[in-house]
Amino acid sequence: MSRLIVVSNRTPGKGPAAGGLAVALRKTLAEREGFWFGWSGKLVDAPSTEARFEDIDGLSVAQIDLTRSDHHAYYAGFSNSILWPSFHLRLDLATIEGHWYEGYRAVNQQFARALLPLLKPDDIIWVHDYHLIPLASELRNLGARNRIGFYLHIPFPTTDALYAIPHHNELMRDLSRYDLVGMQANRDVSAFTEFADHQSPSSISGNPLKSVDFTRSETGAFPIGSDPDAFAKMAVSPAATKMIRRVERVLPDQRLILGVDRLDYSKGLPQRVEAYEKLLSNDAHFRRSVHMMQIAPPSRDSIKEYQETSDALDAICGRVMGRFAEPDWSPLTYVKRAYGQPSLAGLYRLARVGLVTPLRDGMNLVAHEFVASQDPENPGVLILSRFAGAAEIFDDAILVNPFDTDETAEALRMALDMPLKERIARWETLMAAAHKHSVDNWSHSFLERLTPSDERLSSATRD
Ligand code: G6P
Repeated sequence: MSRLIVVSNRTPGKGPAAGGLAVALRKTLAEREGFWFGWSGKLVDAPSTEARFEDIDGLSVAQIDLTRSDHHAYYAGFSNSILWPSFHLRLDLATIEGHWYEGYRAVNQQFARALLPLLKPDDIIWVHDYHLIPLASELRNLGARNRIGFYLHIPFPTTDALYAIPHHNELMRDLSRYDLVGMQANRDVSAFTEFADHQSPSSISGNPLKSVDFTRSETGAFPIGSDPDAFAKMAVSPAATKMIRRVERVLPDQRLILGVDRLDYSKGLPQRVEAYEKLLSNDAHFRRSVHMMQIAPPSRDSIKEYQETSDALDAICGRVMGRFAEPDWSPLTYVKRAYGQPSLAGLYRLARVGLVTPLRDGMNLVAHEFVASQDPENPGVLILSRFAGAAEIFDDAILVNPFDTDETAEALRMALDMPLKERIARWETLMAAAHKHSVDNWSHSFLERLTPSDERLSSATRD
């Protein structure tokens, strides 16, 4: 079997979000050999030209260092102040500084130059996320002929939003140089197809330079998932049980409404707290018997829009506390810190309601992890944004429009009042979907499509 080379901006163990993906791909990398390639997390004066290999808990990881200025333009600039907001349809929060593109391109070139000498001709390369859209082009320009796949973890934008991105045609041409482009949800593939149709030479006759030829690459929806069995186990582990006890001690007889999200404007956190405020204000009988807990580890805090989201959340949480707290009851706990997966699994299991209401999200793995952590005999209820990729999978959740805080407040009331029988019936369907769309199935189906057909054929004959 050919080796697998995984490439992402962050390598496992170097960032809070590497968790689920790292666990999934670690298994696959162990089966197929190969290594993980990415940024070391170090900023230096002169960019490294060669990767350093390191063994991270048995996983072979090759890393390069970046210069501070390249990293700023590539990460905080082009990736997270242009691509991230545009792909999440928040052009109002984008900072369009076209010159960041040079740093973005330079880092992708640096990745390609350092990766190329490490490649064998039949290695399969799997590139992850919006930081690295040009990587296949850069590798191919240097002569790489390998099969290269790309997976977009975030939503694909509408054609209009895409047009707001500087150099969008080059980026889309870069995308067309992958053999396989995977996206989270059908809606993303539709948006992509719409763009590709717009670009077809016939629709822009007279300007062939603008056309992007997607005929060489394949595109498809490959919804990512969690490891539901691992989460189910983790939710009854000693670490999870310890967390449950800690919370139960301070919140006796409270039904817990839980949110867990990176502190990002795409997650709809202020709107979510506002919906909770409406619940408490409309239905006074919930006061003293429910408690909302929002865990929101800070993220990308060098970027102004993230600081502003954090301030907005501070303000609304303070308002709800001031409005409803009593000397012996607090409506809300707001924690700006990251927790390990076992502690989170405990909190998910304890919660009566999982409140997952991003304004727009590629998939949202919290929804998967919440479902997997439930007690089958007394499960909690998932409230899920219609605009998360997960809504295509979990249609037995209570689906809401997260911009409509009245609707979310009503969903909260419905979830809190939901009889046990209905909670069990809904959860069983959700758990079956979490199994069907596990992270293992995700990586296998993507790699199955990316593997050259002759290798697929010979492994099928062996089986
Ligand atoms: C999202 C992106 C990932 C990213 C993660 C954390 O999930 O899709 O690519 O790693 O956020 O963001 P950060 O900027 O800290 O890497």
